[in-house]
Amino acid sequence: MNNWKITDVASYAPQRVVTNDDLSQLMDTSDEWIKERTGISQRHISSGENTSDLATKVGEKLLAQSGWSANDVDLIIVATMSPDSYTPSTAAIVQGRLGADHAVAFDLSAACSGFVYALTVAGSMLQSPQFNKAMVIGSEVLSKIVDWKDRSTAVLFGDGAGGVLLTATDDQYYLGQDLTTFGKMNDKIVAGQTTVSSDFPHEITGLTPFKMDGRSVYKFSTHEVTESIKRAVEDAQIDLDQVDHFVLHQANARIITQVAKRLNQPLEKFPVNIDQYGNTSAASEPILLADCIEKGVIKRGDTLALAGFGGGLTVGTIIIKY
Ligand code: ACO
Repeated sequence: MNNWKITDVASYAPQRVVTNDDLSQLMDTSDEWIKERTGISQRHISSGENTSDLATKVGEKLLAQSGWSANDVDLIIVATMSPDSYTPSTAAIVQGRLGADHAVAFDLSAACSGFVYALTVAGSMLQSPQFNKAMVIGSEVLSKIVDWKDRSTAVLFGDGAGGVLLTATDDQYYLGQDLTTFGKMNDKIVAGQTTVSSDFPHEITGLTPFKMDGRSVYKFSTHEVTESIKRAVEDAQIDLDQVDHFVLHQANARIITQVAKRLNQPLEKFPVNIDQYGNTSAASEPILLADCIEKGVIKRGDTLALAGFGGGLTVGTIIIKY
């Protein structure tokens, strides 16, 4: 088989909702500032559930929805920048909990581009006869790495997970892609940095919290996401007008508006749910996809451009038929 398609989509968010007003009790911020600058009204925040817990919930939903047994799954990739641990991978924990004993499982680290990067990796692997069915999940508990004293980043993020099941096919569902990495800008978004002292034996040090140069990332995103979508559409040999929905990483409603303008595409083609979830990094596109499918906004046969951008810095777009 030389192509693949999405058969099922599911998402899960922790029950606890934290509003902008709740945050203004913790730090010097306001509902007005957050809404106006980002479009965010609330976010879900985990109470005790780790990244693998959220991802496992999504995996269970996907299996229940599809009727696949855990043993049918050949591959599990979890895209995350907030894994439970260095090792085991979050994907290995999910594989064990689901009882997907035949599945190869590993994590993929590309921050907010993680879901698109993981889809392209899974898609490539599905071209090998060894793999027929894959599970790709974006899962994040960013609340454990955010500095809750830094209002410039704390108000932006939320916790959640979303995922898809993919199956190999000969029909043309996957159409094209663009993945680009800008490693020279690696210092613009950093989290979980470790340090190594010069003496030996080394002390085990803690991880650094999330830090972002918001203005640089804003400029980067509006320009590079636009260019990545253009390159992916060209790779797919279609026109921008043939894309029914642009499912963009939900980092900031203003970035999405800017990208729509630059692509000269109607804003109605850019679904948004950042108001409900905040920025959930690798989970934001599958959560949005699940919402749109549930509401009937995205239907079978629609052409989608999924685009992610973030830490690395990275950007990625994939063009598929749903
Ligand atoms: N509440 C109130 N005031 C605030 C807050 C807050 N939460 N945060 C910052 N401010 C203040 C600043 O101190 C500044 O005050 P000053 O003018 O007196 O210095 C003022 O608001 C403006 O701050 P800016 O940083 O210029 O605000 P901006 O309009 O750029 O918005 C934001 C900041 C929302 C972070 C924006 O830059 C952005 O969205 N950047 C892109 C983020 C992104 O796309 N990330 C994606 C990747 S994330 C990942 O990969 C995990």
